[in-house]
Amino acid sequence: MLIILLGPPGAGKGTQAEFLVQKYGSAYISTGEILRSAVKKGTAMGKQAKQYMDQGQLVPDEVVVGIVQERLLEPDCGQGALLDGFPRTVVQARSLDRVLGEMNSRLDAVVHIAVEEEELIARLTGRRVCRDCGATYHVKFNPPKVRNICDQCGGELSQRDDDSLATVTERLLVYKKQTEPLIEYYQKRNLLYTIDGNQEIGAISTQIITVLDQL
Ligand code: AP5
Ligand code: MG
Repeated sequence: MLIILLGPPGAGKGTQAEFLVQKYGSAYISTGEILRSAVKKGTAMGKQAKQYMDQGQLVPDEVVVGIVQERLLEPDCGQGALLDGFPRTVVQARSLDRVLGEMNSRLDAVVHIAVEEEELIARLTGRRVCRDCGATYHVKFNPPKVRNICDQCGGELSQRDDDSLATVTERLLVYKKQTEPLIEYYQKRNLLYTIDGNQEIGAISTQIITVLDQL
């Protein structure tokens, strides 16, 4: 199955992806994670991407399309994949259609997690991530058992560079302008399933599973 998780920053794409990857054993492609890892390693691509990410802006389409195209050819994507944070512009969506066409593959569903803006700001500014394994927490809504320590690997938790209020505000604007048009793009193709993301994490997972199990 080839599934897209679509939604604004803080909607819970990464949180739900962690759960879905465990349940279905799908390959996971998060462009945000791939870019953050390139930044950490200090590669040329990472250095270029950092300038955009720190400003809350999107990295140029050709860079991310190249990343995803390469990643989709890796063996673990043979049975499909879960895409988180890609596509994010209509240009990226069209490129994905082209790449999948060349691979004789197609999308099965786009799961759109919809959340109110006020809630998104609270979620992002309180988010903590594990420095070692990348697991996601929230100081109030999803705290670790021991403060600042990852439940899964014992690693130290930290705040993402782009989770300051100023950058979050910019990311939400960028989402509205550049990514929201994808809702209509996929609605027109009868691929869109919208889930109310203003619920508890477990309730959202249950609804996503109901959608995916019916495909
Ligand atoms: P990316 O890493 O993709 O970030 P994003 O889309 O902004 O989304 P987030 O990861 O911030 O949120 P999420 O929906 O995963 O929420 P999470 O589960 O963590 O991209 C980062 C940057 O990389 C971009 O700004 C851009 O520069 C670049 N980039 C990436 N992809 C690109 C592309 N395709 N094109 C161009 N540039 C690209 O949850 C958030 C918090 O809420 C957590 O603390 C969590 O514990 C909590 N939470 C989750 N669910 C719930 C719930 N139901 N109730 C209460 N709390 C919850
Ligand atoms: Mg994420």
